[in-house]
Amino acid sequence: MNNLIDIMQMSTDELQELIDRAMDIIADPSKYAEACHGKKLATLFFEPSTRTRLSFEAAMYELGGNVIGFSEAASSSAAKGESVADTARTVGCYADIIAMRHPKEGAPLVASRKAGVPVINAGDGGHNHPTQTLADLLTIYREKGTFENLTVGLCGDLKFGRTVHSLICAMSRYPGVRFVLISPEELKVPRYLITDILEPANIPYEEVTSLEDAMPELDILYMTRVQRERFFNEADYLRLKDTYILTPEKLRSAKQSLSILHPLPRVNEISVAVDDDPRACYFKQVLNGKYMRMALILKLLEVNV
Ligand code: NCD
Repeated sequence: MNNLIDIMQMSTDELQELIDRAMDIIADPSKYAEACHGKKLATLFFEPSTRTRLSFEAAMYELGGNVIGFSEAASSSAAKGESVADTARTVGCYADIIAMRHPKEGAPLVASRKAGVPVINAGDGGHNHPTQTLADLLTIYREKGTFENLTVGLCGDLKFGRTVHSLICAMSRYPGVRFVLISPEELKVPRYLITDILEPANIPYEEVTSLEDAMPELDILYMTRVQRERFFNEADYLRLKDTYILTPEKLRSAKQSLSILHPLPRVNEISVAVDDDPRACYFKQVLNGKYMRMALILKLLEVNV
């Protein structure tokens, strides 16, 4: 594997290898401080980002490497009409590895065919976000010690939420996982996840609208933001944006062992009053994302430490 475009490119053994590497980085960061000395990561972000871009940058710096790139399409030659393929081929002349975020589904895949260096999908439209899934998986692993026999509730914008799509794909491969898909009717998961991922593998799932009803059975609750930028009209966004707001009251019926995840940014969907609950893991998830990106960069650059 020398790109990461879709989380399904990685076997569960390869995911475990990354998790083990991330745990080793956490235990002994100094061992990795010069691992990518002389290497350059390019971050090509055609869409807004705080965590993903900065955590890639922090990851590369903590490996002793350097970073080049841009954080908005307007400051790149895309504003002059350059194609993704040409941008990728150009940047491949400067960088050893590329992380790309783009509003068009499939853009990082196109880039990976032209760049000549490893390309990582840092989010493509409403499609996939495999490195957020790496952060989610390390968080689940550190909280639960396993991926098996978990009831995973995903709540909010399951239609446009790319992190949801990648997480369902990844978790669908562990035995005993059940999904509770909690969303308004208009924001249900894309049908391909049901017909191509869940049904062929006989994975139990329910599509429901009530978060309160689902709460008592959940081991993981993955909250998401309604993806305003992917809506066709503002009125629909305004109608749906506050459908789910997690509060301490709603958590009264939850398991004590629940882990609450959110890829962030949060808008209104988790009250700040939940932040001090020991079950809230979303800021731990941010930190875990950096370690998993370090592990991924080492793997794609084939650096042995
Ligand atoms: C997510 C994304 O970009 O899809 N953010 C992130 O990378 N952590 C989630 C979101 O924007 O809602």
